[in-house]
Amino acid sequence: MKVIAGKREEYYKEVKNDSNTDNGDTEDDYNKPQVLVKQLLKLHDSGQITEKHLFDHCDTVIGAGTETSSSVLSNSILLLAMHPEIQELVYQELRSVFHEQKLFVDYDEIGKLFYLEMVIKETMRLFTPVPTTARKANSDIILSSKIYLFSTKFQK
Ligand code: HEM
Repeated sequence: MKVIAGKREEYYKEVKNDSNTDNGDTEDDYNKPQVLVKQLLKLHDSGQITEKHLFDHCDTVIGAGTETSSSVLSNSILLLAMHPEIQELVYQELRSVFHEQKLFVDYDEIGKLFYLEMVIKETMRLFTPVPTTARKANSDIILSSKIYLFSTKFQK
């Protein structure tokens, strides 16, 4: 709530100071990365989404993005600690890609970490971060020639 209130203030200041410059809606702007909260505030301001939608979207992204990545990260570290010989191979791969200490890495470098990728995928296979999907039909539907009535729950 506080974070969104802060972003809202920033956004209004920006709009006030910047009324003659881009509002992020040109075709070019859509090709650039955009801040989600700013986009949601824009939609709310133009009456396209309610305040509840705005907060619900933020909750979804925060919930979907934090539990998943943090559990994969901690389980990967746990498995590496349990398998030092694999940890050594990950370390050697990192040494071969990064020749000096640096704070930020780029996509090209991440793309070279094949062994690390396999370790992360194996971690997700063993400790699946999202082991189930659930859906509820919001109308009667036909799937593979079977009829499912409104409110049917699907779980996999
Ligand atoms: C290892 C990390 C992650 C895993 C394993 C993962 C896995 C998944 C899966 C399986 C779904 C589909 C769920 C369903 O359809 O029922 C999903 C949806 C989603 N994920 Fe991720 N995710 C990860 C990271 C993230 C991150 C970092 C973000 C955002 C910053 C994110 C945002 C979302 C959103 C917004 C949805 C859609 C939720 C919805 O439809 O209600 N995820 N993710």
